[in-house]
Amino acid sequence: MLQVNQIDTRYGKIQALWEVCLRIEEGEIVALVGANGAGKTTLLNTVCGVLRPAAGSVEFLGKRIDGLSAHAIVDLGISQVPEGSKLFPDMSVRENLEMGAYPHHAWKEKQQTLKQVFDLFPRLKERERQLARTLSGGERQMLAIGRGLMSKPRLCMFDELSYGLAPLLVAEIFGIIRGLRDQGITILLIEQNVKHSLEIADRAYVLENGHVCLEGDCAELLQSDYVRKAYMGL
Ligand SMILES: Nc1ncnc2c1ncn2[C@@H]1O[C@H](COP(=O)(O)OP(=O)(O)OP(=O)(O)O)[C@@H](O)[C@H]1O
Ligand SMILES: [Mg+2]
Repeated sequence: MLQVNQIDTRYGKIQALWEVCLRIEEGEIVALVGANGAGKTTLLNTVCGVLRPAAGSVEFLGKRIDGLSAHAIVDLGISQVPEGSKLFPDMSVRENLEMGAYPHHAWKEKQQTLKQVFDLFPRLKERERQLARTLSGGERQMLAIGRGLMSKPRLCMFDELSYGLAPLLVAEIFGIIRGLRDQGITILLIEQNVKHSLEIADRAYVLENGHVCLEGDCAELLQSDYVRKAYMGL
């Protein structure tokens, strides 16, 4: 579904990604893990058209998308839930959700998708008219996921979904992510929470200093001495 080929991404003179390759098959949950500053968000922003790669290419469903606008990429069915859930603080829960439905194909089905999001997160339904800035951290994260779903994505990419959440809520949200996959949405999970994400994903990539240093099936990576020592403190 998604193929990232030998991407270099730079911020002026600073090179943040070096010949990064990554592929996601339809129906998979893939995790991209790594420490602070490894380049995870940079890779996400390169895929969704916020940053342009200096070299390499990105293909989605066989079509080259690097060079397209971020808007056009959302229209093709790629959605991202950004780090720190950048919501519209002075808009209500419902208005934030509706803003997510701006691609043409999603706008037509807005009411139906809204109902699905409220079924997934009854707490958002209860707080439909509340301003986003008054939500708790966990509720904000739910709203960010819901807004991402409103664009009716085929591939949804989540940046640090579990950050700052209590363990129970992390388990609940990761359970919801699995449910989304079962409904046919392909998932890229970007996480510092290595143990949790390797437990729910199918395959993973480990990014270090802008390079992919390891990749493989999660079951294997969970057994890897390197991953256990470097990322799980074992
Ligand atoms: N706008 C920017 N201008 C210059 N350098 C940047 C910019 N954004 C990121 N970088 C640099 O690129 C590198 C990768 O940053 P990135 O945000 O992709 O890391 P990350 O893996 O998402 O980290 P974190 O887990 O802390 O979110 C870092 O060295 C960072 O300082
Ligand atoms: Mg980041």
